[in-house]
Amino acid sequence: MQVWNALSGWMDYRRALQGPGFEQKTIGFVPTMGALHRGHAALVERCRRENGIVVASIFVNPTQFNDPSDLARYPRTLDRDLLLLEKLGADHVLAPSARDLYPRGYAFRMECDDSYKIMEGASRPGFLQGVMTVVLKLLNIVRPHRAYFGEKDFQQLKVVREMAQDLFLPTEILACPTVREESGLAESSRNALLSAGDRKKAASLFRLLSAAATPSEARAALEAEGFAVDYVEEHWGRRFAAASLGRIRLIDNIPFAGQD
Ligand code: PAJ
Repeated sequence: MQVWNALSGWMDYRRALQGPGFEQKTIGFVPTMGALHRGHAALVERCRRENGIVVASIFVNPTQFNDPSDLARYPRTLDRDLLLLEKLGADHVLAPSARDLYPRGYAFRMECDDSYKIMEGASRPGFLQGVMTVVLKLLNIVRPHRAYFGEKDFQQLKVVREMAQDLFLPTEILACPTVREESGLAESSRNALLSAGDRKKAASLFRLLSAAATPSEARAALEAEGFAVDYVEEHWGRRFAAASLGRIRLIDNIPFAGQD
């Protein structure tokens, strides 16, 4: 497995991949912010099964954080992440610096219209722009045939997929189901930041979201359990929630049919 800290080195290598001998191999890509868990692993495993070359990226993208303290405490476990990616059979890992990925700072950014600015797009100003901008940069750098995203962040997946279609990017955006702990809690890098007590409580997010008859019933049940609820909403055949325990904000979503 090759780790690329400098983008220029990778870009040279990527150009050479177009040469003779590589035509048959598809390139699959899994972008991440690190602090890898079973959810990320499932994406990489599928990418490994479906492609000749597997590229992952680890980059805690500052432009998608609207809360500086969330960015500051985001878990960073690079050494462990690299060991896991190696075990999963990744061929290349891009771990660029912010300077390298944003050579002109945040001079150029992707924008979407207001119809996308619901839920995460409404609650976290700048979040969608940050995600779209960094994903567009990464897709241009990696130029993969396929890129894999988790349904855990369903709104992100939808925005990225529609952006890729609308800009005629050659990459196919693929969706992977949410990986959960036995308790039902969706695997998330932020789970590591929960206290032992809150971690137990966090499983109620999935349970109550699934059990409630309506969004308002889900909201009331979550509040009764001690969550500070940001939203519970239904879109695209799914029910979504964002709620905090202490300073840690969790999101989840389930399909109506409940077969997730
Ligand atoms: P990150 O939160 O590290 O997630 C990377 C990918 O893993 C995303 O596609 C996310 O949906 C997926 N993922 C996270 N938890 C999952 C779970 N429990 N089950 C299945 N998939 C899961 O999402 C980001 O990073 C960033 O916004 C990024 C796309 C990398 C842009 O910076």
